[in-house]
Amino acid sequence: MQTELFTVPMIEGHETEIQKAADLIRAGQLVGIPTETVYGLGADALNPEAVANIYAAKGRPSDNPLIIHLPNDVRWLDRYCVEVPPLAYELAETFWPGPLTMILRRNPVVPDRTTGGLDTVGVRCPDHPVTRAIIAAADVPIAAPSANTSGRPSCTTAAEVMEDVGGKIAAVVDGGPCAVGVESTILDLTCTPPKLLRPGGMPLEQLEAVCGEIEIDPAVLRSMQAGERPRAPGMKYRHYAPKAPVTVFTGNPEATAAAIAKQAGEGSGVICFTECLDYFPNAITVDLGSVEDKQEQARRVFSALRSFDRTQVTAIYAQCPDPAGLGLAVGNRLKKAAGFHVVEVQG
Ligand code: TXA
Ligand code: MG
Repeated sequence: MQTELFTVPMIEGHETEIQKAADLIRAGQLVGIPTETVYGLGADALNPEAVANIYAAKGRPSDNPLIIHLPNDVRWLDRYCVEVPPLAYELAETFWPGPLTMILRRNPVVPDRTTGGLDTVGVRCPDHPVTRAIIAAADVPIAAPSANTSGRPSCTTAAEVMEDVGGKIAAVVDGGPCAVGVESTILDLTCTPPKLLRPGGMPLEQLEAVCGEIEIDPAVLRSMQAGERPRAPGMKYRHYAPKAPVTVFTGNPEATAAAIAKQAGEGSGVICFTECLDYFPNAITVDLGSVEDKQEQARRVFSALRSFDRTQVTAIYAQCPDPAGLGLAVGNRLKKAAGFHVVEVQG
């Protein structure tokens, strides 16, 4: 299949491409779409055959449910979800459009294929004008997982989407590089207190300011043991992994840089803070951004992981940011890429 590329830096003057993308979605085709978090692989969420093709294109296990992307309009929330608690409306009012996915009870009009057979559904309104225009023109909710091949780091540019699923889908809409860079935060609102299933682009502290107490699902902090079932089925898979094995170092930046420097020689890759680039003269280094600039770290983490697949490194070491703010999401993606192989450095 020839994958069409639509370059849509803004809505004005690009109405034709937006309409074409919407028509493809309505016709049951797959379209790569930009969001503020990562690129999505979109299809009509109400069309089970179209949704089945998402799983095929990504090589994704079919028990792993999809998020549906909606306009910022509570009537749509009420159309696809039932028993919506007042807190969900408040969160939507406060944080949508934005990187927050809420798990709510589904209305059975959302097909089993989309929810992986669960009686709940993940909903979010993305903060990207082009994709919101496509949803409005298609007039259906768009189911979209991250557009990467299953297991690889998520895609934050249209070129990466082409690299992973080009030739397998009808089109990719290039809306520029993703502003946030890590996926949405997933909050389960079907339980009390609400539960954080995946840290992401919306920091936990901001959600706590609205919700009060939030429980953290164990899958966020460590790998699942045999027989354990995380609430977000996707959290059980090895994820975001480059070909070479990754080890993550937590602790203060000078201490982790020194610890990594002892191991990283020629043939090693290092993901490090800008301030620590000089510690690893023999390794291939990738700059994650400044220690304090977690927004930049979030924007860079996936392309950093991806970049080593273009090299011959046989081991990758990564410095981990502290867990405040976006650091929780950046650290989680690094640890998942490492299969939770983490070295805690003291000092
Ligand atoms: O930022 C994002 O959320 C991106 C963009 C494209 O919107 N999407 C994304 O989708 O990251 P995906 O499919 O790669 O990750 C969705 C995660 C999976 O781990 C899945 O298991 C979980 O959300 N999930 C989806 N629906 C769920 C549900 N009803 N209950 C629990 N977990 C759910
Ligand atoms: Mg994903």
